[in-house]
Formats: sequence, C-alpha cells, structure tokens
Amino acid sequence: MIIQVFSIINGMIYSIDSIREQFPVLMQEPLNSKRFAFLDNTATTQKPLEVIETMNRFYKEHYSSVKRGVYRLSEKTTQAYEQARREVAHFIRAADENEIIFTRGTTESINLVAWSYGRRFLKENDEILISALEHHANIVPWQLIAEERQAKLRVIPMDDEGNLLLDTLVDLIKPGVTKIFSITHMSNSIGTVNPIAEIIKRVRELSPDTKILIDAAQSICHLEIDVQKLDCDFLAFSAHKMYGPTGVGVLYGKSAVLESMPPWHGGGEMISQVTFEKTTYAAPPARFEAGTPPIAEVIGLGATIQWLNKVGLDVIKKHEHEITEYALQSLQKIPEVRFVGTPQQRGPLISFTLKGIHPHDAAMILDEENIAVRSGHHCAQPVMDRLGVPATLRASFGVYTQKWEVDRLVESLLRAIRLFKN
Ligand code: ALA
Repeated sequence: MIIQVFSIINGMIYSIDSIREQFPVLMQEPLNSKRFAFLDNTATTQKPLEVIETMNRFYKEHYSSVKRGVYRLSEKTTQAYEQARREVAHFIRAADENEIIFTRGTTESINLVAWSYGRRFLKENDEILISALEHHANIVPWQLIAEERQAKLRVIPMDDEGNLLLDTLVDLIKPGVTKIFSITHMSNSIGTVNPIAEIIKRVRELSPDTKILIDAAQSICHLEIDVQKLDCDFLAFSAHKMYGPTGVGVLYGKSAVLESMPPWHGGGEMISQVTFEKTTYAAPPARFEAGTPPIAEVIGLGATIQWLNKVGLDVIKKHEHEITEYALQSLQKIPEVRFVGTPQQRGPLISFTLKGIHPHDAAMILDEENIAVRSGHHCAQPVMDRLGVPATLRASFGVYTQKWEVDRLVESLLRAIRLFKN
C-alpha cells in the first residue's frame, strides 16, 4: 500500500492510513469482501483508540465521583475533569476556563441559553433571529421560549444555492428588539459554511446588545474557532461530532453574560447555600452543572482535544477539502445525481438526490455495499422545504476518509441506478 505523507507533528509522521488505523470501527472485517466505508461523519464521528483507552482507564483505575470527595481517587478525578475544562477553553481560545459549561450536547447547550437567558430577559414582542439553514435544535428551543415569553422568531432567508441572504440583516436586526441571534456556523444538511466573523461584526454594528450564539456542532472539528476574536456571546458544540464521546457537549458563554443568567436545572453542586426558605446559587460554570456530570465523557473529551491538537485542525481541514472536492467531481459525472445546495463555502459534506430513486432506498442499497450514509431530512426540514426536496442522501467526510471510499460510493450509486432502471 502506498503511504501518503499526511502530516508531520512533533517528529511523528501521520499518513491518512495511519490515522485511520487508530479507529477500531473503521478497521472491522470487510462484509462479503467489501470494506467498510463510513460516510456519515456529519451525524457522528468514530473514536480514536486514545480516547477509548482514556475512558477505559478512568473506569478501570480511578473511577469515582467528581468534586464530592476529599479522598484521593475523587481528587484525581476532579483534577482530570477540570483539566478537560482547561483543554476546551484553550481549544476555542476562551479567556477563562470558567466560561466553559459541560452539557449533554449542542442541543442541551442551546436549550440552556433559551431557558435561562431567554426566560429571564425576553419580553413580549422581543425578537429572536435565526437563519434558514438551522438544524431543528436551533429552531425548536427558540419556538418554545418565544411562545412562553410571547416573543417573535425571525429568520434570515437563503437563496436557491443555500447561501444566506445577509443583506436582509439590516432589516432583521432591530436594536432593543432583537434580543438573541442564534446561527449555525456550518449547515449539517447541505454543508454551507457561513462567514461567521463577518456576520457577527455586522450584527454588532447594527445592535451591540443583541446576544449572539454560534451553533458550532458541525464546524468545531473542521475549522479553527477563536471565541474572543469572533466576539460571540455563546458557542455550542458536541463531543461526539469531533471524534469524542457521546453524552457530553459544551456551552461557552462570556463571563459577564453567564453571571447574569439564572440556573435552569436545580440540584447538587450548583448551589451556594440551601435552606427550605431560600437557595443561593454557585457562580458559573457550577451554576449550570447540576447533578453528577458525565465524568468519563468529559475526561474523554479532554483526551479528544489532545488528540485533535496532535493531528492539527489545519491538516484535517486540508484533507477534508481535498476529499470533498474529489467527491464533488466524482459525483457530478453521474447524470442522475442532483446536488442539493451548492453553497459558496462548503464544509466536508454533500447532499444530493438520485433521479427516480428515493434517498432511503438508495441508502439501503449502499448499506448492502457496506457503505454508511445518512438519508432523510437531516433534522432540517425547513432547509428541505426551501430547496424543494423531501429528503436527500448525504455523504460526509472526516479526517480518516479515503478516496477509495468515495470511489466505492460512486460505483454503488451506479449499481443502485442500474437496479432501479430494470
Ligand atoms: N445532527 C446530526 C446529523 O446531521 C445528527 O445527522
């Protein structure tokens, strides 16, 4: 096998092959001589051994509660847990580790802002602005809180290619009225990468007090993010989409904004003092981490970030760009393929339909070929409605994706087309 040099970090040579070999699920035995092609990285990513082993070691060697014991094991666990918070803070360039709140994932992070900040500060006729590209997780929480507070939800429209019509910001952002602006960095359904720095700058100019939340669920392990340079108030993401464990995510919030927010879940460790008459609350981040947290997963997230730092986001970005370009060129040779969304800036995913074949049928044929893709509306029904399709097939790529996987996808799609023609 030809080993392509991929990256040299700390004197170690990384090739696509050697990176792929660190992922046990990808190394499984072929099915009927067909190697496993995992092209569903937008939904979730595989986990490198380093992360799996870190979590196993924790369970085997020093499992204990966190922040609730003075015994050595618990102290060690608390240190590992807080070290993960520091890793996250450094990864997104937060000013302070206390700006990092561990949640169950992006969905919970957005809900936390809606039910804490939104519930406290939204008034009747205030507005929340989102975009036409959002995942349901960045739509439904705002609809729920808007209904409760009698606020209004506004949406930045998009064009037929899947680019947001940013000139509409001038009319949509209203100082004193638009209290929250929540937008995805990268669309999970069609891959649009929004020019987030430029958008935040424009929103700040139009309305300095509007609180800005970035849904970074898709971008976090593809693009470098510096929350201080971006000047967002909140940033939300999940570990499982960045080669880390499920069940843990992050909400970054600027210190002053977090300080102003009431708790949304009550329980252990989020308090300062409890009596039956009155409870006072801990400072952030503890205020927002009620109950025993997902300790092993947080520690796993810390290991994930160390792993990502070793590989390098710039290397990942370059590799994914090459694979995505290769896939676009390969797929466009199939006359039956229609791309859904052709944005100016695209992340490592491609949504498309096949003439005459329902995406679910095509995905089942691909599964027979041992190829995993997602089919459906991708939890983004408004995007599908806007682009006039009920569902798409979505192929999405990661650091370990290889060209042979794209080639197998193309061959198998051709097989599906032949099957349906007969
Ligand atoms: N949000 C995930 C996806 O796009 C689950 O598939």
